[in-house]
Amino acid sequence: MNVNEKDFRVKNQIRLTIQSRAENVAFVRACTAAFASQMDYTLEEIDEIRLAVSEAVSNSIIHGYKNDPYSQVELYITLWENGGIEIVVEDHGCGIADLKQAMEPTFSTEPGRMGLGFAFMQSFMDQVEVKSRVGQGTTVILKRKVRQPVESKN
Ligand SMILES: Nc1ncnc2c1ncn2[C@@H]1O[C@H](COP(=O)(O)OP(=O)(O)O)[C@@H](O)[C@H]1O
Ligand SMILES: [Mg+2]
Repeated sequence: MNVNEKDFRVKNQIRLTIQSRAENVAFVRACTAAFASQMDYTLEEIDEIRLAVSEAVSNSIIHGYKNDPYSQVELYITLWENGGIEIVVEDHGCGIADLKQAMEPTFSTEPGRMGLGFAFMQSFMDQVEVKSRVGQGTTVILKRKVRQPVESKN
């Protein structure tokens, strides 16, 4: 096995299926934080990762499923050997017609909302990928690397 193959090995992985209820967002946040703690993230980084995840899950519940509690949101969280986390949040809801517009800061289809969910995800994670099809659903992939600690010079 060469170095590159080793870097892309899975260290640990969980899969969660939740009913689309607002109460479950806090559960997902806590699970994500507990799982991400297996990696060398700082507390602040873990805070940011769980915030990004809760934005994605809230979007699936509120927008994807229009708050219908009898739908399901799926999460796949992977920790990589090379020091990164990947979180996939998937719904089979209404989908997004104009992804570019949806991801613009302050754009929202719901009156009274801030429209900053995607902007938060992008500022808290290294990479945010969104795939969506109208009538089929939305998948958000969030990635963040573990930063190497800066060597002290003295
Ligand atoms: N999972 C989803 N399913 C359907 N539409 C979504 C989904 N996620 C986001 N959207 C659309 O993208 C818009 C922007 O999302 P976001 O930046 O989180 O802002 P907000 O949630 O405040 O509206 C939402 O208003 C909605 O129209
Ligand atoms: Mg949102």
